[in-house]
Amino acid sequence: MKIHSKAVHAGDRKKAGQHIPITTPICTATSFFYDSMEKLDRVFGQEEPGFAYSRYDNPTTAALEELMCELEQGHTALACASGMAAIHTAVTTALTDRRKSVVAANAMYGATVSLLMNVLQPAGVEVRFADICDLDALRAAVRQAQPGCLLIETISNPLLRVGAIDRIAEIAREAGAALVVDNTFGTPLIARPLELGAHFSVHSITKYLAGHGDVLGGAVVTDEAHGPALRALSRTVGPVLGPFEAYLTMRGIKTFPLRMERQCANACRVASWLAEHPRVERVYFPGDAAHPDAATVARLFPPNLWGAVVSFEIRDARREQVFRMMDALRMIVRATSVGDVHTMMLYPVMSSHREISPKHRERMGIRDNLLRLSVGIEAPEDIISDLDQALAS
Ligand SMILES: Cc1ncc(COP(=O)(O)O)c(C=O)c1O
Repeated sequence: MKIHSKAVHAGDRKKAGQHIPITTPICTATSFFYDSMEKLDRVFGQEEPGFAYSRYDNPTTAALEELMCELEQGHTALACASGMAAIHTAVTTALTDRRKSVVAANAMYGATVSLLMNVLQPAGVEVRFADICDLDALRAAVRQAQPGCLLIETISNPLLRVGAIDRIAEIAREAGAALVVDNTFGTPLIARPLELGAHFSVHSITKYLAGHGDVLGGAVVTDEAHGPALRALSRTVGPVLGPFEAYLTMRGIKTFPLRMERQCANACRVASWLAEHPRVERVYFPGDAAHPDAATVARLFPPNLWGAVVSFEIRDARREQVFRMMDALRMIVRATSVGDVHTMMLYPVMSSHREISPKHRERMGIRDNLLRLSVGIEAPEDIISDLDQALAS
């Protein structure tokens, strides 16, 4: 099946007693009862499929995990309580039998940088950052660090750089490292990292997959080799998603390909309009022919799907001007997150990258006049007219 059909059907219609519900219901039970102790023993021992305890596995969450495997072409999935829990779980699983060293992209979501610097590094994991869009520089960093794990984003947050996942996967394999790709901004409509050789694809499902601003969640999808370690870690640590959120996510995913196509088309229109605006100094958008990774984008992404985030710098603006412009927005929502049906604007220096030191931010190229726009499904004319009046302010 194509992704539009998988999004609608995969994971659903499991037999529940006498009936088969057409969509997956919410199963709130934390524990499961069996007629015989022999059977319960086999389920506990994982010798027989079944549910014993919802930290290990839950019918609603399992249906979402099946759906995620289908969308990402993976073997095993784990639905997590947040995108950050998913990244932490994926990296920890990747490092299970490998050297405790991570080479990460030098431009990533702020909390991911924080996870590396403030959680993993103090716990003894060596952390090094590299420019993943310069493969020679990446190879040199990998030679020196001998990492157990490489960590990248399909489309980086917020400067929207695109690394060659397939070539980075080769570098990881040659070094015996696992490649973890945060595919949140890419989504399986645009990229399926496991097909390109990555070992883990992770998501903040809070974003495009759930899509409506009412679910916090994450997912890890991996190959057959890493599946048992992923599930074993999760059974012990319990970073799992609850059944209500799993239900809402499955409901959201049914329309995700449609929403994403519309959002990508809207983003393209908005990016072209911003590029012509006299108050805009620079636009970052992977669909731009002058984008530094245009060749990789053309090679790996499907036609006309370049993601739905547009970042831009306002000419000569400092914090006061940025605040004034954002306060003037009428329809576009001033809030953090991306991927919702509504267009949202965020000031990275104040939010997603706040915890990163100004010096580190500067090295990442995140300036005080940079804004990130997550383009929604509204009429593009309305998005543009709101931007126009706000920029005029
Ligand atoms: C690229 C990326 N990865 C991961 C996360 C973390 O996701 P969550 O907020 O669901 O923990 C975010 C959140 O903004 C993100 O933008």
